[in-house]
Amino acid sequence: MAKITLSIIKADVGSIGGHIKPSQKLLETVSNYIKEKGRGLIIDYYIGHTGDDIAILTTHKKGVLNPKIHKLCLDAFLTGTKIAKAQGLYGAGQDLLVSAFSGNVKGMGPQVAEMEIEERPAEPFLMFMADKTEPGAFNLPLYLAFTDPMHNAGLILSPKVKEGFKFVIMDVSYTKVDKIIELKAPEEIYDIAALLRDTGRFVVESIFSRASGEQVVSASTTRLHNIAGKYVGKDDPVMLVRTQKDFPATGEILSPYTITPLVAGFMRGSHNSPLMPVKKNTSISFFDGPAIVSCLAFCEKEGKLTESADTFDHPYWDYVREQAAQETQELRRQGFFGAAMLPMSELEYTGVMETLKELEKRFKIRKK
Ligand code: F6R
Ligand code: MG
Ligand code: MG
Repeated sequence: MAKITLSIIKADVGSIGGHIKPSQKLLETVSNYIKEKGRGLIIDYYIGHTGDDIAILTTHKKGVLNPKIHKLCLDAFLTGTKIAKAQGLYGAGQDLLVSAFSGNVKGMGPQVAEMEIEERPAEPFLMFMADKTEPGAFNLPLYLAFTDPMHNAGLILSPKVKEGFKFVIMDVSYTKVDKIIELKAPEEIYDIAALLRDTGRFVVESIFSRASGEQVVSASTTRLHNIAGKYVGKDDPVMLVRTQKDFPATGEILSPYTITPLVAGFMRGSHNSPLMPVKKNTSISFFDGPAIVSCLAFCEKEGKLTESADTFDHPYWDYVREQAAQETQELRRQGFFGAAMLPMSELEYTGVMETLKELEKRFKIRKK
């Protein structure tokens, strides 16, 4: 059976009217670059955007973290950046933080989710892209889809799914090298929950089937904030999830998105927002948000992709979007107050710190 690699490499290299969406010309430039320069290297590709982020999905036989594949996508984004600059797009090249390429784009700014798979006779998989949020946004949906029979009926109904899953979780506050822990569901679900509640620090990197050992999930884990040490935009994660048979069904993976959990991001990367499931190529609007997630379903055969099916383009999700909009309003009513805004450590701009520093000088110790 063929070994195929699925790679998503995603970056924000500029957008129209603020941090809203890339221009058509920018998308075409990135797409044409991959089409021309990818010849003989990749088997197939798909390019789309969610908010201001462009994601390149490629299929190939080169394995994960392959320098040629990463260079191809990086150069596509660099070529796109030239167009973004020429068009006067906002934030041109904003996610390309490090210019020296040293083998792969991890840690350079773009988000990466890749998986080398032993292709099944039919290979359905999902491509998730989120904007105005961070990698930890996938923590709760993944936890529920892989451990909770309230969302994953397969945990009761399918003997292979019931064998459970291995979570690989990364401590993203440790930036020198990767720091990970492997935990088994269901035995260790309380430990998994104890980590995943802290979305700014612990992030699901990958999930494996315990029945077969096969990889089911690969999610991006880069936090630009930690790399650059200052505000450079939120990290807008991407994720690949294989589905069906011994893995959760597509609908089981989607089920937790009904909850629209509060995630960090939204305006200036400094607020909480319900995570709204949206149709493909959705742009950003209200209060630079809300945080959005899109999910495209594909099948592939020897690397050849079908057209995508837009999983959140369905009347059911119109209802969920409506609810998410209501929740968003509730939260926005309290503006900067309490849980609406992120804690000090997660604020993506320095304004509050500078104000506090100034005000500190004016505080007085009251004499008894
Ligand atoms: C959030 C985001 C936007 C910007 C905001 C101000 O991740 O990208 O909310 O933070 O539009 O942007 P600047 O500072 O570029 O004017
Ligand atoms: Mg942006
Ligand atoms: Mg973005």
